Amino acid sequence: MTFSRKRVGVLISGRGSNMRSLVEAARAPDFPAEITLVLSNIANAAGLEFARKQGVATTVVDHKAFSDRESFERAMHETLVGRGVELVCLAGFMRLLTPWFVEQWRGRMLNIHPALLPSFRGLHTHARALEEGVKIHGATVHFVVPEMDAGPIVVQAAVAVLEDDTPEALGARVLAQEHRIYPLALNLVARGAARVEGARVKIEGERPAPDALVWPRA
Ligand code: GRF
Repeated sequence: MTFSRKRVGVLISGRGSNMRSLVEAARAPDFPAEITLVLSNIANAAGLEFARKQGVATTVVDHKAFSDRESFERAMHETLVGRGVELVCLAGFMRLLTPWFVEQWRGRMLNIHPALLPSFRGLHTHARALEEGVKIHGATVHFVVPEMDAGPIVVQAAVAVLEDDTPEALGARVLAQEHRIYPLALNLVARGAARVEGARVKIEGERPAPDALVWPRA
């Protein structure tokens, strides 16, 4: 069987724990994607160190070196294309992207968000979930569209909110699930099993059982 792995660029701005989960998953010989490049807009992002140690190519495109958002994005785009990147994974990348950049990668760019979209777009999702008193919270991997924290959903994981939760405790349990679902979503997309149909993603063939994505398990 011929097997070609999709070349993935991961964009980070900080700690990079989701990038790490992707790098670790891609070590499996049958994983349909390889992490070709880790790109950061922040030179001292902690995640870069991990990637380098793993022998993954890294690069910094510092947004502050550009006079406007679009020239920054053009530089990123050229870097990604120059490395033969086919899919982009945003993993804690803290820059808003213009419709131009999003259009270049339409259907080929994923993001992970620490909430069950379309609830709690934006920042501080765990504190807001506690304020609203939701009983179920979670994480979402979705295709990126010009609107922030929107776009066809590939995989979600749900986490029960506990009585004495703090944003930190809840966030840590959500993060653990992020590390499970991002590799899962990338696997589905890279092997062409996740197809966008309008606002929805259809998963073909084997797909995770819904109750496998709820923690603690029922
Ligand atoms: C994660 O919570 C992710 O969902 C959000 O930003 C955070 C990044 O964390 N988009 P890390 O850098 O991957 O550890």
